Parts: sequence; C-alpha cells; structure tokens
Amino acid sequence: MHYAILPLLASLATSSVAAETVLGAYIFSRHGDRTAKSTPPANLTDLGYQEVYTSGTYYRNRYISSDATRKIWGMNTDLVKLSQLTASAPIDNVLQNSAGGFLQGLYPPVGATLGTDTLRNGTSVTSPLNGFQLIPLQVVTSGTNSEDSAWLQGSTGCANAAISSNDYFTSSSYLTTYNNTLDFYKGVSPMVNRTFTSSQTTFQNAYTIFDLLNVASIHNSSSNFQSADLLTNETFYQLRTLADQHEWNLAYNESEPIRAVTGSIIASQVTSALNTTISGGFKNKLNIQFGAYAGMMSYFGLANLTAASSDFYGVPDYASSLVWELVTNATFNSSSLPSTNDISVRFYFHNGTTSNTSVPTEFPLFGTGVSPLPWTQFVSGMEAFAINSQAAWCKACGNSTGTCSSEALGLSSGSSSNSSSGSGSSSSGSGGMSKAVAGVIGAMVTLAVILGLELLVMLVGGLRVVSKKRLGGTGAATGNAATGTKA
Ligand SMILES: *[C@@H]1O[C@H](CO)[C@@H](O)[C@H](O)[C@H]1NC(C)=O
Ligand SMILES: *[C@@H]1O[C@H](CO)[C@@H](O)[C@H](O)[C@H]1NC(C)=O
Ligand SMILES: *[C@@H]1O[C@H](CO)[C@@H](O)[C@H](O)[C@H]1NC(C)=O
Ligand SMILES: *[C@@H]1O[C@H](CO)[C@@H](O)[C@H](O)[C@H]1NC(C)=O
Ligand SMILES: *[C@@H]1O[C@H](CO)[C@@H](O)[C@H](O)[C@H]1NC(C)=O
Ligand SMILES: *[C@@H]1O[C@H](CO)[C@@H](O)[C@H](O)[C@H]1NC(C)=O
Ligand SMILES: *[C@@H]1O[C@H](CO)[C@@H](O)[C@H](O)[C@H]1NC(C)=O
Ligand SMILES: *[C@@H]1O[C@H](CO)[C@@H](O)[C@H](O)[C@H]1NC(C)=O
Ligand SMILES: *[C@@H]1O[C@H](CO)[C@@H](O)[C@H](O)[C@H]1NC(C)=O
Ligand SMILES: *[C@@H]1O[C@H](CO)[C@@H](O)[C@H](O)[C@H]1NC(C)=O
Ligand SMILES: *[C@@H]1O[C@H](CO)[C@@H](O)[C@H](O)[C@H]1NC(C)=O
Ligand SMILES: *[C@@H]1O[C@H](CO)[C@@H](O)[C@H](O)[C@H]1NC(C)=O
Repeated sequence: MHYAILPLLASLATSSVAAETVLGAYIFSRHGDRTAKSTPPANLTDLGYQEVYTSGTYYRNRYISSDATRKIWGMNTDLVKLSQLTASAPIDNVLQNSAGGFLQGLYPPVGATLGTDTLRNGTSVTSPLNGFQLIPLQVVTSGTNSEDSAWLQGSTGCANAAISSNDYFTSSSYLTTYNNTLDFYKGVSPMVNRTFTSSQTTFQNAYTIFDLLNVASIHNSSSNFQSADLLTNETFYQLRTLADQHEWNLAYNESEPIRAVTGSIIASQVTSALNTTISGGFKNKLNIQFGAYAGMMSYFGLANLTAASSDFYGVPDYASSLVWELVTNATFNSSSLPSTNDISVRFYFHNGTTSNTSVPTEFPLFGTGVSPLPWTQFVSGMEAFAINSQAAWCKACGNSTGTCSSEALGLSSGSSSNSSSGSGSSSSGSGGMSKAVAGVIGAMVTLAVILGLELLVMLVGGLRVVSKKRLGGTGAATGNAATGTKA
C-alpha cells in the first residue's frame, strides 16, 4: 500500500517514540479471512484465525510484552488483568471468533509455572491448555450478524441511514456506473452464475460479487471454480474498484452524515472509552472492538481521512485495524497522573494483517494535517459527528418506536420528537441498535425490478476502467463521493 503520508509526519513519529509514554489505546479491527457472504452463514476460516492471531501478537509486541515498542504504562505483561482490558464484538460468528483469536495472540497461554494455583490443602492445579487465559467478550449491539448481511444498513436498524443509503441507488453517479458496467458484469457471469442470476450480475451487487470471487480466489480448487480463467488480474482489480465505489457511497455521503451512522457510533465509543481511561486514572488501558469494514469506511469519511490518503476510499482488507493512542510527554507517577492538558491522541491505520514486517501507519485526523492532536482538540473533532446517546440516536435516525419510544427513553409522552440529544437514557454510546431490517431489502428488490425493466430498453455503454485515485479525485472535484462500500 502506498500511503500519501507527509514525510514530515513520518519523521516526527519516529523521533518521538523514545520520549513518549502511551497511556492507553483503542483498537478497532476487521475480522480475518472468512467464507463468502453469499454462502451464509459466513464463518472464520483457518487462514482468518491465523490472521487475527498474528495481528494480536503484533499488538502484544507493541503494547504489552516486557520489551514492547510502545508499552502501555502499567499494563500487565503475561497474566491478563481483566480490569485493564475491554474486548467487544457484536453477536456475529465471524466477528466474535475473530476477537477470540486476536486475544489469544494478545495474551497467549502462560505455561505451567504462571498458570498454576496452589489450593489451601496444598494441591497444585494447572489450568488447561498450558495456561490458556480466558478473556470475556462484551457484546456491542450495533452490527449484529453483520457478516451475514449483504446490505450495509441492515445491521444498524437506523431508519434515516437506510433511506439515505438507498438514495444512492437512484443517484446519477450510480446509474451511470450501472449502465457502463453491464458488459463487464456480463463477462463475469460465467464465474458466478451458480450464485447470481444474470439480472443480479450487475453493479447493483458489486460487493457481493467481488466478495464471492475474492473468497473463491483464495479457497476454491479449480474443480469448484467455474470459468476461473476469466478472473485475470485486471478483471479482479476492476471488480474490487467497483466494489469500493459501491460500498463507499453506501457508507458515507458528505451532505448526508446520517448515512455514516455506524462511524458516528464508533466515534462515540472510542471517545467515551478513552475518556474513561483518563478519568478513571488510567486503570482501564486497552480497548479492542471487532466490527465490519462498513463502519470503518463511514468513520474514514466522517473523520476526513480521505484528505490524508485516497486509499481510504477503498474497502479495508481482512484483519485491518484502526488505532487511537493516548500519549503524553509529561513526567508523572502513580500519585501524580498527567492532566488532560498533557495528553494527546495519535491515530494509526493498517490495511490487512498487522505484523512485525507490516506495521500501522500514522495519519492526521479531521483533515488537520497534524498528529498527534491535543486531547481537547481530538474530542471536539470527534464530537462534531459522534452520536452519544440512545436519545440522540433515535432523533438522528428518525426512529420513534420500540427502544425509541418515549416510554423506553424515559421521556414524558409527546416530548420525544424535540428532546435534545444527550438527554434521556444513555447507553454508553452503543446506540441500542437492534436486529437486521427487512424493509430495506424490500425497497432494494423493487429497485432491482425497475432496473431490470430498464435493461430491456437500455443502450449499453462501453466499460471504462477508472482507477480508485481518479474516482476519489473526481468525487472531491464534483462534490460526488465516488468510491463505495457496504458491510
Ligand atoms: C513528545 O516530544 C517529541 C519530541 O519533541 C514530539 O515529537 C512528540 O510529538 C511529543 N509528543 C506529544 C504527545 O506531545
Ligand atoms: C463455513 O462456511 C462454509 C461455506 O458457507 C461451509 O461450507 C462450512 O460448512 C462452514 N463451516 C463451519 C464450521 O460452519
Ligand atoms: C484438595 O482440594 C481439591 C479441591 O477441593 C480436591 O479436588 C483435592 O482432592 C484435595 N486434595 C487432597 C489431597 O485432599
Ligand atoms: C427504526 O425504524 C426502522 C424503519 O421503521 C425499523 O425497521 C427499525 O427496526 C427501527 N429501529 C429500531 C432500533 O427500532
Ligand atoms: C449524496 O447522496 C446523494 C444521493 O445519493 C447524491 O445525489 C449526492 O451526489 C451525494 N453527494 C455526495 C457529495 O456524494
Ligand atoms: C454458467 O456459465 C457456464 C459457462 O459459461 C455455463 O456452462 C452454464 O450453463 C451457466 N449456468 C447457468 C445456470 O446459466
Ligand atoms: C467456491 O466454493 C463454494 C463451495 O465451497 C461454492 O459455493 C462457490 O460457488 C464457489 N465459488 C465460485 C466462484 O465458484
Ligand atoms: C497477477 O497478480 C499476481 C499477484 O499480484 C502476480 O503474482 C501475477 O504475476 C500477476 N499475473 C499477471 C499475468 O499479471
Ligand atoms: C469525560 O469524563 C468526565 C468524568 O466522567 C466527564 O465529566 C466528561 O464530560 C467526559 N468527557 C467526554 C468528552 O466524554
Ligand atoms: C486496502 O488495500 C486494498 C488492496 O489490497 C485497497 O484496494 C484499498 O483501497 C485499501 N484500503 C485502505 C483503506 O487503505
Ligand atoms: C477535509 O480536509 C481538507 C484538508 O484540510 C479540507 O480541504 C476539506 O474541506 C475537509 N473536508 C471536510 C468534509 O471536512
Ligand atoms: C442508462 O441507460 C438507459 C438506457 O440507455 C438510459 O435511458 C439512461 O438515461 C442511462 N442512465 C444514465 C445515468 O446514464
């Protein structure tokens, strides 16, 4: 990956390492290699397990081990101390198992010596699996079953976000690309016609078609990969680029921030967790959340990371991670802790599995061109788009039933529609999103029918291969977000 990182920034980051103390961190990671969304239920593969384990091991060597490169102040080295660590994932087989695999890399089995207790009666007991350490996983309510859902907003339950994302399917940008790629997808059809009918093999399903072929290119033997010779590098690159464009536009739109609701929730969770680290005297030090790429893309858009690199228009690879670090140059000790004025935040991203030979890169947030950002500046940057409470979520999403009814929000009846954000019950930023939405799928099916009819009278335009950079550039220049993604 070639990131357009400022040389100045890179050199600052390197030279500052020795002086700084890391006080805490929040890691948001994508799952490892999985089976295809179009063959549900999706599951984590052995390769995916290995990827998240490798990433976990990298972060152990960065933050935890005794010779860690950016050791978190006071973090236990071998035996996990649960109060220092919070790990979470939505209810989803791929994401939960990915979190489990990552945590094994972070705190591996401690062996017989550390993993042995002596009982009152003198008997020694060694824990199973060579001192394997058990780490509980909290459940976040947004993103339930997201890896089985082909539709980005399906796992958010946010009415206005679904409407906004759906609007993309009637935009001229979508329809133009749809028209121009009909021939291309017709050419791809022999590879995927056991899963997608010819009317489904269009830009409308750009991500799921890419996903099916990406999985097949990694796992399927030639006997189970029809017409595999059609998947040239160029075709694969084009499938990926079209999927990026599709997903980006569903995940983020500058003029409709609600489309990026998952990114707003991530912003709230990260800010709130890091604030807890500070206000709690740096006892809870490390947070790890697993989630889908769509939320990452929504966050990239909201945090204006595309200003730092056009790579952010693309779907992050398996096991990619975002990291926010709390850092300080202050000298301090446990009886005089650093104040918020002395604390800054560094943001890093790594595309794909992180390892000692492929490490995260630092990027400036919010289009500032500056990193690290002082804590207060970081907070105001995040607060500009974070959704911090159930009431705020309901208001932004336009939902007013179920968990969003006045009763559920603890508001007096009739006042729910203009309750200010932040009032009502707080759900520690998770937003209380519920199960997948079926109504949206209905809307998409209708649209597919309309487009199918259009097909009959359509003049098919020639296919143009457009690079991601150009797509990004064009988007910025015309005010149209040009690349895209879904979960
Ligand atoms: C700590 O000091 C180094 C060296 O001056 C600097 O590069 C770095 O940005 C500082 N870190 C913070 C958090 O201010
Ligand atoms: C994982 O998914 C694949 C493809 O959908 C399926 O064939 C396989 O049985 C699943 N494995 C497990 C352990 O569920
Ligand atoms: C010691 O206590 C454990 C747990 O109660 C028991 O399983 C074990 O048999 C005891 N050992 C002896 C020697 O009493
Ligand atoms: C929000 O509204 C949509 C559309 O009415 C609905 O499908 C979804 O379940 C609601 N979400 C919640 C959390 O109530
Ligand atoms: C936002 O979305 C609408 C509808 O999908 C689209 O018409 C508009 O061009 C988009 N704006 C940007 C900046 O992408
Ligand atoms: C799918 O494409 C292959 C290769 O062109 C063809 O042999 C097969 O009949 C097609 N299957 C369907 C269901 O259209
Ligand atoms: C890859 O193999 C799976 C079954 O293991 C099958 O469902 C899928 O259709 C195959 N993919 C392609 C593109 O042939
Ligand atoms: C296709 O890409 C792979 C991996 O990047 C590379 O090893 C291979 O040489 C490429 N093949 C052609 C024909 O360009
Ligand atoms: C951080 O926590 C403190 C103490 O709980 C609270 O007063 C403050 O509002 C919080 N700030 C943010 C940005 O959440
Ligand atoms: C991640 O890498 C893929 C290629 O492997 C690229 O298409 C995509 O743009 C990259 N995404 C980000 C966010 O860097
Ligand atoms: C993103 O940052 C760039 C560079 O600072 C700025 O020109 C642009 O207006 C910002 N975009 C948004 C949406 O804030
Ligand atoms: C797509 O093609 C149809 C049929 O040729 C045409 O009517 C429609 O205007 C085209 N749409 C766009 C956005 O180019």
